[in-house]
Amino acid sequence: MGLTSSFAPPTAAAAQEPTIDPARIRDEFPILATHGNGRPLVYLDNAATTQKPRAVIDAVTRYYTSENANIHRGVHYLSQLATEAYETARQKVARFLNAPSSREVVFVRGTTEGINLVAQSYGRTFLRAGDEVLITGMEHHSNIVPWQLLAAQTGVVLRVAPIDDRGELDFAAFERSLSERTKLIAVVHLSNALGTINPIRRICETARARGIPVLVDGAQSASHLRVDVRELGCDFFVFSGHKLFGPTGIGVLYGREALLERMPPWQGGGDMISSVTFAESSWAGLPAKFEAGTPHIAGVVGLGAAIDWLSGLGLDVVSAHEAALLDHAVAEVSQVPGVRLVGTARERASILSFALEGVHPHDVGQVLDAEGVAIRAGHHCAQPVMARFGVAATARASFAVYNTRDEVGALVRGLHRVRQVFGA
Ligand SMILES: Cc1ncc(COP(=O)(O)O)c(C=O)c1O
Repeated sequence: MGLTSSFAPPTAAAAQEPTIDPARIRDEFPILATHGNGRPLVYLDNAATTQKPRAVIDAVTRYYTSENANIHRGVHYLSQLATEAYETARQKVARFLNAPSSREVVFVRGTTEGINLVAQSYGRTFLRAGDEVLITGMEHHSNIVPWQLLAAQTGVVLRVAPIDDRGELDFAAFERSLSERTKLIAVVHLSNALGTINPIRRICETARARGIPVLVDGAQSASHLRVDVRELGCDFFVFSGHKLFGPTGIGVLYGREALLERMPPWQGGGDMISSVTFAESSWAGLPAKFEAGTPHIAGVVGLGAAIDWLSGLGLDVVSAHEAALLDHAVAEVSQVPGVRLVGTARERASILSFALEGVHPHDVGQVLDAEGVAIRAGHHCAQPVMARFGVAATARASFAVYNTRDEVGALVRGLHRVRQVFGA
């Protein structure tokens, strides 16, 4: 595991804090040494998915090479190895989130599935027609549509707390949206479309005073900000492995034990029962109750390795490095004539969304691609955010711990090239 090798060792004269040396980190990501369109790859699409370090690739390979078996039910050697690998990863996730217990860590396919689980299990059981679920105006479709499905099933009402022109939550309006009918708050931690960091602690304090549970969509935040579910005070926290240097198809739902205990399973099948007859079945304890069927064992193992890798760097160090890089990128990209930033929140991270006057974002993306710079253009699964800012789409550069100032330079040069091509 090349964790410590990725630090630039602090010199006695320099600050005591360890810092990030992106060049050494990049060496751990084989794909970053490849080329796109004949040019060195500049990968700035990390909000969509991150690249994988060798530690993760090796862990998955090792698992399939020497540990693969089905988990929990086997008495043989390999099954025990696989079970141990799977459950050890659960403990790593619990530590990563500072969850009080690994019983509160449920493996799911990703953020989307985690939110759907809460909507279908908690929502359908405890919410009634006329009860309200409050979200914000900056949610990803994954934190809108599951609540709309729940609304259609139960008569629950979806309410939306507005955001302002910077892309920040209007906290006063958020508080005004709360009433005795509000039975759940579901809010994004770090917006994938705007880069806004929401004041989760304050939201949770406000909610707790009224006895309202809070679900946090941590799809974007978990790889950029230190997450401590106890400090945040949230009841549910969901994230995806693939946005955190881990495999696709695996994610986590953290839920407060007292809530998970009261929630019914949302899928039935093997491994989630304690006994089955044709007349009735009873459920396994936590977290198996929510993990029906054979899970993505290799994905869990890879996620555990990703968490080890990221934790080895230290989230506070990662955040500081990325904040400096984002500040630099904002300053540089803003100077390109015709650029308008979409999302200028005071608390933000890792995401730079923008429009370039006279050029469609897809064309921006295509010309940048020809220059070897990978960004994303589109609505970013956040169409209501696009509508709020009066655009159909934006171009979005999103950064990870391995990105460099040179890559920001490549982005800016690419944008000048876009202007040249389109005469903008
Ligand atoms: C803020 C946010 N929430 C939810 C999701 C959905 O994540 P996944 O597709 O991994 O389930 C994303 C993915 O981009 C996201 O950015």
